[in-house]
Amino acid sequence: MILGFIGTGKISSSIILGIFKSKLNVKRIYISSRNRNIAKKLAKKFTKVKILNDNQEIIDKSSTIFLGVTPNVGNKILSKLRFSKNKKIISLISTINLSKLKQVTKNKNVVRATPLPPIEIKKGPVIICPPSKFAKNIFKNLGQVLEIRNEKLSYKFWSTASLMATYYEILNTSSKWLTKKGINKKLADTYVAELFLALSQDALNKSSQGYKKLVADSQTPKGLNMQVLNELKKGKFFTKFSKALENVNKRVSK
Ligand SMILES: NC(=O)c1ccc[n+]([C@@H]2O[C@H](COP(=O)([O-])OP(=O)(O)OC[C@H]3O[C@@H](n4cnc5c(N)ncnc54)[C@H](OP(=O)(O)O)[C@@H]3O)[C@@H](O)[C@H]2O)c1
Repeated sequence: MILGFIGTGKISSSIILGIFKSKLNVKRIYISSRNRNIAKKLAKKFTKVKILNDNQEIIDKSSTIFLGVTPNVGNKILSKLRFSKNKKIISLISTINLSKLKQVTKNKNVVRATPLPPIEIKKGPVIICPPSKFAKNIFKNLGQVLEIRNEKLSYKFWSTASLMATYYEILNTSSKWLTKKGINKKLADTYVAELFLALSQDALNKSSQGYKKLVADSQTPKGLNMQVLNELKKGKFFTKFSKALENVNKRVSK
């Protein structure tokens, strides 16, 4: 398998790091020289990674091409590139829809995928739309593949995926609070990460029973968990949380 990446930014580099930790049989990966620093680091770390300056050359030399550029850049460069019929395209671009992608690339083998940075440790969900054998065969080695036929429904996951920074801010706030109270920073950071890792693993194991039950089971009547939850509910924390999801949904559904 020869892979090409147009755009060597955050998500492309996370995928490449994940690939080299996986069992995927990759002969060569061509990456673009932008971003130069990331590209250089990847090429230095992995002998199978080669930097090419020309996006067209990346496409011509690869069988599957990842589009890892921002929507603005995608709108500017894609129509100038040629994707022959035998090329397979995986777009990571957040807001260019499938019909536009097919139109500008003049290619029908296009899928959209939404991997997240933890793909570099082969963790996390990867939404693929529409279901596709070639994309699944790659991503199943890098995370949990969830295939969606309906593109409009697939957008909904962009909203929940946008909780990443908020999630890390919860960790950051918790650790900062512990540190302020005199706990050593390293201990605070480790405690917080281990706590949320354990809660997430437990939630995944029990996901079939529904999260409402977990919320109930983790509160003792008049206990500490109940106190925090009620205080946050009173401050409309979860109403604002749902509103933020709605607002991202409006933005990505345009
Ligand atoms: N980050 C995530 O968690 C994530 C997850 C899923 C999907 N996505 C989507 O994936 C896309 C890329 O996101 P990102 O976070 O990886 O962004 P990013 O880090 O900004 O990467 C975009 C890359 O595109 C390069 N680029 C700019 N113009 C180019 C051109 N003409 N030819 C080739 N490369 C060019 C940039 O290089 P320079 O730095 O040199 O300008 C940069 O390295 C976005 O559409 C985003 O919505 C991101």
